[in-house]
Amino acid sequence: MVANGSQNQIKFYSEEDVPLEMHKVRIVQKLNLPPIEKRLEAIIEAGNNTFLLNNRDVFLDMLTDSGVNAMSDRQQAAMMMADDSYAGSETFTRLEKTLNGIFGKEFFLPTHQGRACENIISVTMVEEGSVVPMNYHFTTTKAHIVANGGKVEEVYIDEALNIESSHPFKGNMDLEKLKNLIKEHGSENIPFVRIEAGTNLIGGQPVSLSNMREVRELCNQENIKIVFDASLLADNLYFIKTREEKCRDMSIAEITQEIADLMDIIYFSARKLGNARGGGICTSDRDIFLKMRELLPLYEGFSTYGGMSVREMEAIAVGLEETMDENMVNQGPQFIKFMAEELKKNDVPVVTPPGGLGCHIDAMQFVDHIPQTEYPAGALVAAVYLISGVRGMERGTMSEQRDEDGNETLSNMELLRLALPRRVFTLSQVKYAADRISWLYKNRKLIGGLEFTEEPEVLRFFFGKLKTTSNWQQKLVGKFREDFGDSL
Ligand code: F0G
Repeated sequence: MVANGSQNQIKFYSEEDVPLEMHKVRIVQKLNLPPIEKRLEAIIEAGNNTFLLNNRDVFLDMLTDSGVNAMSDRQQAAMMMADDSYAGSETFTRLEKTLNGIFGKEFFLPTHQGRACENIISVTMVEEGSVVPMNYHFTTTKAHIVANGGKVEEVYIDEALNIESSHPFKGNMDLEKLKNLIKEHGSENIPFVRIEAGTNLIGGQPVSLSNMREVRELCNQENIKIVFDASLLADNLYFIKTREEKCRDMSIAEITQEIADLMDIIYFSARKLGNARGGGICTSDRDIFLKMRELLPLYEGFSTYGGMSVREMEAIAVGLEETMDENMVNQGPQFIKFMAEELKKNDVPVVTPPGGLGCHIDAMQFVDHIPQTEYPAGALVAAVYLISGVRGMERGTMSEQRDEDGNETLSNMELLRLALPRRVFTLSQVKYAADRISWLYKNRKLIGGLEFTEEPEVLRFFFGKLKTTSNWQQKLVGKFREDFGDSL
């Protein structure tokens, strides 16, 4: 029998593995690629921090997939029918109903974005001395837990930090480590265990359904709640469907429902999940819901909009429904795999297996001559922008915070993340990025380090400014002109 409608069934005569799009593009946006000399000015002006670049100086914006995934015609149409009222809007009811249908949780609290959920959850559940185990931290998650007096403990599997691996679920939790941690701190000091889908900071690596089940069993025995960060759930669903034998015949919606049943609280950034801009928390725990709801008017807005525009809420509702489609969730991971393979052909060290969110390059190997105290991933991100106009994001020591004594916290991994917002870039654009980065790899010894000139104390990677430790960028421009002539 032929199952209907999955892109995975489409084979090429050439047997080439091409990520074929199951959508067409009907609205386009013009791009600009400034010459390298202009890019040099722009990156110096931005203090070598790609967060501080103006998008007009960027060719392919691979900074993030947050709030910049392409929306569908149905999402845009839904935005036209939003019900704008401060309290009790129809739009809220529609979104609540959609979420209830997908996750099966009784209550929904809307927020303006993912970190707002983290604020509300942390203020409600974390206190001085709390310990929060998780598969891996995310920057804003950790900041909120720490701000409320808690501490983050990561219980990732050993394979998680292995750059080149064939482990299908590097985002899994290590059950033994979790057990020991509970023994050490006592379950009364653990307000919740947090599981992050599509583990962001280790390269968008997924968690398996069976691992989530095991964590649930342990937490049941210990009477500990589980908070699930579903921001990167879409990619994770694709990996469960394609890599977890038992889930092969399940639909995306069925897998989602099984995951949700294991969780006490689910929160998400709708800048990622749902392809719009917003966020929310779902739970069936009435007590926690009521406590969290008290905070909503303080930080977000009334409980039927939570800081979001009703148009975005309509778009999220449709975006969430559309995410329950295999042809939708496969686009990101398949493009990412294509990009990783293009880079690997030229020996560029990438995180494997390729995960979700984006393609991750290992700066520790790429620029192994730059010490971690000179921010190898940060230097590589600046260099990639300079030679290609492609804007990536540093995910390494620059994204960490100094300890109380002012010492650097050296990151476990030094990654350059090239996010692939879903359905935004074409394959030729992905090829261009991979081609330029492969050239850079051949010329990697020209790249040098960075040092801070302005360094904020909290989340310094957002606004911090840096300068190069030598004139390596000017040399790189020279080599580019030598090899590419007057090419942009
Ligand atoms: N959790 C995860 C796993 C995330 O990736 C993010 C955001 C958040 C929470 C916070 O959500 O931005 O809506 O407040 N990640 C973005 C990124 C910023 O670029 O990876 P938010």
